[in-house]
Order: sequence, then C-alpha cells, then structure tokens
Amino acid sequence: MSLFVPTAPLAPNPDTATGRVEMPQGFLWGTATAAYQVEGAARTDGRRDSIWDTFSTIPGAVINGDDGTDACDHYHRYREDVALMRDLHLGAYRFSTSWARVHPDGGAVNPAGLAFYDRLVDELLSADLLPWLTLYHWDLPQALEEAGGWTNRDTAYRFAEYAVTMHEALGDRVGVWTTLNEPWCSAFLGYTAGVHAPGRQSRPDGLAAAHHLMLAHGLGIQALRERAPAANLGLTLNFTVADPVDPADPADVDAARRIDGQFNRIFLDPILRGEYPADVLEDVAPYGLLDHVRDGDLDIISTPIDTLGVNYYNGGAVSALPQESGSGGGGTRPEGVREADDAAPVRETSSPHPAADGVHTHSRGLPLTDMGWEVQPEGLTRLLVRLQEEYTGPRGVAMYVTENGAAFPDVVGPDGAVDDQDRLSFIDGHLRATKDAIDAGADVRGYFAWSLLDNFEWALGYTKRFGIVRVDYETQERTVKSSGRWYATVARDNVIPA
Ligand code: NOJ
Repeated sequence: MSLFVPTAPLAPNPDTATGRVEMPQGFLWGTATAAYQVEGAARTDGRRDSIWDTFSTIPGAVINGDDGTDACDHYHRYREDVALMRDLHLGAYRFSTSWARVHPDGGAVNPAGLAFYDRLVDELLSADLLPWLTLYHWDLPQALEEAGGWTNRDTAYRFAEYAVTMHEALGDRVGVWTTLNEPWCSAFLGYTAGVHAPGRQSRPDGLAAAHHLMLAHGLGIQALRERAPAANLGLTLNFTVADPVDPADPADVDAARRIDGQFNRIFLDPILRGEYPADVLEDVAPYGLLDHVRDGDLDIISTPIDTLGVNYYNGGAVSALPQESGSGGGGTRPEGVREADDAAPVRETSSPHPAADGVHTHSRGLPLTDMGWEVQPEGLTRLLVRLQEEYTGPRGVAMYVTENGAAFPDVVGPDGAVDDQDRLSFIDGHLRATKDAIDAGADVRGYFAWSLLDNFEWALGYTKRFGIVRVDYETQERTVKSSGRWYATVARDNVIPA
C-alpha cells in the first residue's frame, strides 16, 4: 500500500511571490480547448451524436437546456482563432478531436469529419503553433454508449482503432498525442454521479468505466508507439489536493487519504506503477472493480509514457465530520460530487462516489472562483513536487500543466473591453506556483491556460466563462480580455512580470 502522508501547506517562496520571474528557457506556452466545448457544427459533414449531444437533451441535465450544437463555432472560425493565438504569441494549442466526427457510429471512418483536423493542423503549423492533440475529451460516440459505453471492455479496443485513424491522418504533422483528458470525470461524473454524460448513477459502472478508460489509454499508447516511436505520448489527469482539516486527527487524515486514493492514485498507480493501490481496492471492494481486471491489463495500462498532463484548479480541506455551521459555510455541494472539477447538478443525483462516504469538505475561507472553487495556488506547487518525487521523476516522465484557469463573472465595459483582473491574478499566482515547483525539482515544461475561449462548460452550459478571450455567443465575436493581453506578454517574454 502506498503510504499517504499529508503535506503541510508551503510558505510562498519570497523570490517568486511577487517579483519578476523568468521561466526556464524553452518553456511552452499555450491554451487549451475541447472539441465539444468549442467546435459547434454538431450536425455538419457527417458528424453524429456523442454522449454529450444526447445527455444535453435530458431535461435539467444542463443549465438552461444549453448544448454544444453551436458552441463557439470553432469548426468554421478556426482560422480566426488560430490567428488570435499567433497574435497572443502562443507556442502551442491543446485541442481535442471529436471521435463522433471521425467515426460517427463508432465504426467506419467519416473522411469529411476527419478533414477538419487536417485543415486545423495545417493552419496551426503555418502559424508556428505546436498542435497538442487529445483524442478523448469526454465525447464518446452515442452508438458506442448504446453498446455499453465505457462499461463495455470492447470500447477500449474501439478507442485504439480511433487512435490509429487519427495517427494515419495526422501523424506526419502531429508529434504530441494525449490519449485521455481527465478520465476521473469521464468515469465518475459520467457513470457514478450522473452529472456528466452519459448520466448513469452506479458505483460499479463508474469503476468499470475507470478501468476500461485506462485500458483504452494503454492500448492507444501501444498502437501509437508502434507507429511513432519518437512521438511524445501521454495522458492528462485531473488532481485534487486534499488536506485533512485537522492533521492531528487520524479520522481527518484518513478522509484525505480516501480522497487522494479515489481521485488521484486510482489512476496514477495503475498507469505509472502498474498496480492498483491496495487501500483503494479495499475501499471500493463492494463495487466489483476487480471483476473487470484481466491478466495482462495492468501491463498494457502501464505502457511507458513520455508526458503526464496535469490539470489543476483547486484543492480542498476534508474531514470525517461536517463543518459546524457558522464556521465558514463549507460543504454546500452534494457529497460524492467533487467540489473541484465537476458541475453542480441540476438533476437529482442518488449515487455519489464511494470516496464521499463519511468525508466532508470544509471551507478554509479562501477566495472562491465563480465555480465556488478555492483559489489555492500553493496546492499546485505541492502537487507537482509530489508527482515528480513519487511518480514521474523515477520514470523519466515530463510534466506539463495542461489546464489551469478560472471562471469569473466578467463585466463588459461600455467600450466592449473585459478587464478581468481576477482571472489575470489567478493565472499569475499559478504560474508563480509552477515556478516554485520547478525550483524545487519538478520537471514541468509548459503551461496551458484553460481556456482560449469562453465555451460550453458541460452541465453548467454557457453560464461560466473561463476564456482569456470573450465570446459573444450571439455574434460569435471574439474579444481578448485583459488576462489574454497580459498572458501574451508573458508568453512573448517568457517572464512573469512583477
Ligand atoms: C477540466 C476539463 O478538462 C474542461 O473540459 C473543463 O471545462 C474545465 N475543467 C473547467 O471546468
């Protein structure tokens, strides 16, 4: 069993806390998006429904009945968006491809859909932007969900075929391949909490999905490695930095261990160490995870990768006891649905994550974003250093912060400008935290702001804006916010200004 030792919050490094900070030479600056959140054109050129198209039609599943049918119309406006990134001095664009565009029924290839990514990649290269391609950012073809979705082992093999399709089309121009984005969300928000597509509410289904997603990752890496030995291959995980409310109370320490186990180590250990953590297996024993694990799976899942993508938004203080009322007002979200990376459900949910049993989140009085998430940059430093020491460092795996950013209620000035100082200082703080981690030995080679554009924030529809560029959804007009202008100078100079 891996030893879980909670680490105390770090005092900010006085050298990076406020002054001018130079980032390491060659540090990669980018922004990220995902197909269903920005592309729109949901019925164009042969694309068929993904699980998000279907889920969005369930009454109450997505706020305001929003969906990604039009989103930011990136499918038609990608040239303008690429030009914007070039003007912002960015070096890379992390985007995802839509499986339902490429294999609309999960089977035969749709050349018209595939051609979009051909155009996008050429446009990126001609603007000197590195294409950073993610194969799965939550939009499973609906046809595959009807065959069992991620609870069906066969979906993992279909994913490997899709990876090969994409590589055959783009492998001559794309050198960085991410298999999955945040499989925790796909598995547990989608199949256990039911607040994301496909909206199932079952603990066993969430665990089956988690295992099959990891199998898909491993099979995808093997297929890509065979075709492109020199490519940069990896996946992106989302992390929760759970701190015990009372580090001297064994029950609180155990609450933090369980959250760490069922959010972080349940993916990290199979992928980077080739085994499920014993304590997690014990915690989830009633829900049949091991029924899905066949001989050889963990060898496939732990096929070596080059890069671990780290998505970090916030952490949380957890306890075995609920927070007393009047002492900060935490715990406003349903248990089992993480206060971090999820969307607040508008439907009733009945099947919270097993990690939630007897675990309560407490407010620490930190500032909150529009998602209700704590602003806690120092958690990112601790996370990166821990990953380096316990997982990536010993295996020579590089790290990139593949997502970090914040939703805030932007105000559009009379001149149309958006002076989002809150988002700017959020990114500033997390860049400084990243530099602190690098100084402490973490091999972090780049940072992607989430997101380039305001976009479809899953179950929260268009109500939350994360972009460094504003999107007017009526006109599709793009306006660079103050955070975007500031980020452009950071990327240009490779320096966080004082
Ligand atoms: C992580 C997900 O990858 C992305 O799709 C989402 O919009 C952001 N978190 C913000 O919630």
